Amino acid sequence: MKMVSIKLGFVIIFALAITTSADDDEPLSSDFYEKSCPQALPTIKRVVEEALYQEKRIGASLLRLHFHDCFVHGCDASILLDSTPEFQSEKFAIPNNNSIRGFEVVDRIKSAVDEVCGAPVVSCADILAVAARDSVVGHGIRGQSWEVLLGRRDSTSAYIDEANRDIPPPFLDLPQLVINFANKGLDVNDLVVLSGGHTIGFSQCTSFRAHIYNDANIDPGFRRQLQELCPQSGGDANLFPLDATPAVTDTNYFSNIIAEKGLLHSDQELFNSTETKHLVTLYSHDLEAFGKAFAISMVKMGNIMPLTGESGQIRHNCKVVN
Ligand code: HEM
Ligand SMILES: *[C@@H]1O[C@H](CO)[C@@H](O)[C@H](O)[C@H]1NC(C)=O
Ligand SMILES: *[C@@H]1O[C@H](CO)[C@@H](O)[C@H](O)[C@H]1NC(C)=O
Repeated sequence: MKMVSIKLGFVIIFALAITTSADDDEPLSSDFYEKSCPQALPTIKRVVEEALYQEKRIGASLLRLHFHDCFVHGCDASILLDSTPEFQSEKFAIPNNNSIRGFEVVDRIKSAVDEVCGAPVVSCADILAVAARDSVVGHGIRGQSWEVLLGRRDSTSAYIDEANRDIPPPFLDLPQLVINFANKGLDVNDLVVLSGGHTIGFSQCTSFRAHIYNDANIDPGFRRQLQELCPQSGGDANLFPLDATPAVTDTNYFSNIIAEKGLLHSDQELFNSTETKHLVTLYSHDLEAFGKAFAISMVKMGNIMPLTGESGQIRHNCKVVN
């Protein structure tokens, strides 16, 4: 009799363990808020569009926020947390400090969404994923949309050391970029396609100075133009568009690379292997192929180590742990 109940206890605990781990592994789904807050997605879109109307660059900044969130401990909104006595904010990590932006818009979205939902049911991590999509789509006439998978939860800590280690810096060579993305489960095609995120937005002088003074693979006229804006010393924060049309989702990012007018060293590096050269060339003259591939790779990036089920929490304020 005792034996049976012990066995039964074991089975129950075992079954519970399976349930919890299944819970934590719950896949993301596009209809996650359909019951709890059907107005969530239209509300995010409205606030992103208002923000884009005020400042065209904000879409690029929101897209980059999602990328820098996902590459650090997964897409868990850890990037949004301010420093506390327990941890330092990722905002001060080298790739983010004085560079990453868009936090005010995220806060505006969060307030609007919590109000329309009547309760804090939408995670900050999901807000970043949806805002990234609406930013890219808001930039085009030419951008292609996609269904964002949802159900991420928010972290209860920030990971500045991982941010310094895992967010790729612009001076990486192609083999290092490939490894950096492979570490996140992303392949060479994802690397090329997602680098196409640089079809919108701007870079500061500090991020491309070494490229325009030291590298050989750069168009001479482009080099001269850039050196004027970005002298050997000074002008660190001067901005230059990442492609010729920084407010439009198009294929110019890729044609620029073919013309040796990639702004960052890491952009131009994509022309350094047969495989990546082939992909850059393909996307440079096929907007539809780029749009489709971008949608697929964004979903893949958005799936990096999400917290689901009972893990993490739904923050009430994206900047602080509940
Ligand atoms: C492949 C490796 C990548 C490297 C080395 C890289 C590096 C950079 C750098 C250095 C900047 C300029 C920052 C500054 O000067 O303040 C930048 C901007 C940007 N990055 Fe990347 N990036 C990469 C991949 C990505 C990906 C995967 C996305 C999104 C899918 C992305 C989206 C953006 C956007 C939109 C901007 C402009 C942001 C703005 O104007 O506020 N990047 N990136
Ligand atoms: C971030 O930037 C500020 C302002 O330029 C600077 O004072 C600070 O030292 C930087 N922080 C880190 C961790 O590099
Ligand atoms: C990439 O290719 C260009 C042009 O062939 C070359 O100048 C550059 O040094 C290469 N990059 C690396 C890291 O080898």
